[in-house]
Amino acid sequence: MNADSGERDWYAKAGVRRDPRRLLRDELRTGRLYFPPALIPYGAHPMVRALPAEAQEALAARHLFQYLGFTTHFETQVVNRATQLIATGGCGVDSTADTKLDAFRIYCDEGYHALYSFDVIRQIAVASGIEPVPYEFTPFRERLDAIGMEALPGQPVLAQLLQVVVFETLVTAILNEVPKDERVLGVVRQTVRDHARDEGWHHAFFSRFFRELWAQQSRAQRVRIARCLPGLIRSSLLPDLRPVRATLTVAGLSAAQVEDVLRDSYPQAESERGMRTAARHALRLFEETGVLAVDGAQYAFHAAGLLDEEIGDGS
Ligand SMILES: [Fe+2]
Ligand SMILES: [Fe+2]
Repeated sequence: MNADSGERDWYAKAGVRRDPRRLLRDELRTGRLYFPPALIPYGAHPMVRALPAEAQEALAARHLFQYLGFTTHFETQVVNRATQLIATGGCGVDSTADTKLDAFRIYCDEGYHALYSFDVIRQIAVASGIEPVPYEFTPFRERLDAIGMEALPGQPVLAQLLQVVVFETLVTAILNEVPKDERVLGVVRQTVRDHARDEGWHHAFFSRFFRELWAQQSRAQRVRIARCLPGLIRSSLLPDLRPVRATLTVAGLSAAQVEDVLRDSYPQAESERGMRTAARHALRLFEETGVLAVDGAQYAFHAAGLLDEEIGDGS
């Protein structure tokens, strides 16, 4: 068993096995932040700054709620949809019993990530009196599924596997930076740190799994997969503005002001740069496995804005 795969470690080291329930202590009145300000792109916009202090506080809390709400839905509806297919042998890729056992472990991990994300939303909402804006996940999932349907018609399971390989090999700023920011509520930092630890392990699993999957594909199928991946990366990583629009509206901005704030706060070039940074490990995986060498792949990745910078940065 590979040292990264964790058969001996999972029972001692997985968050669901080891970590206590994270609780909101008496921190809300001490000026602790809900989320690092630098990770709330619209937080410093003049129109947002002009809102009453309470409305700005509610916006920050709801930014956190959106992140946690997204996690709750994504883990259960996207990651575990594919992970259970790997675990139960229904994914169309020949896998060893060890791989299936690891997939069951990840299934438990992701279920627990969903549980504690939901738990933290509830704890903070009750204590602060700030209600979450309902999170509509279905449009996001449908957009992701549409990319698979177009590039891999009639192969929904393969598309679902690729979604998860892409997402589980991304490195997002939130997982890295929230735990380090001592201004942020302890329960938030602990929860994100717990999650990041498990994800390091998942990253290794899904990188291995993709190598197995890729090795078993025909030449024609590889071409289709290579052309599907850039769209999956883009739709996983470009900012989803729908929920932001909803919270800015609840904060009291007019429809025109909301659009101004979004336009100023999410400049395209910056979103694209952030996407390439978060995708760098996924891109390196696709380069190493030969995905980028198949017909049309370079063009597709380039057209998606994914090859404008060096892939390797050593991190
Ligand atoms: Fe997770
Ligand atoms: Fe994961």
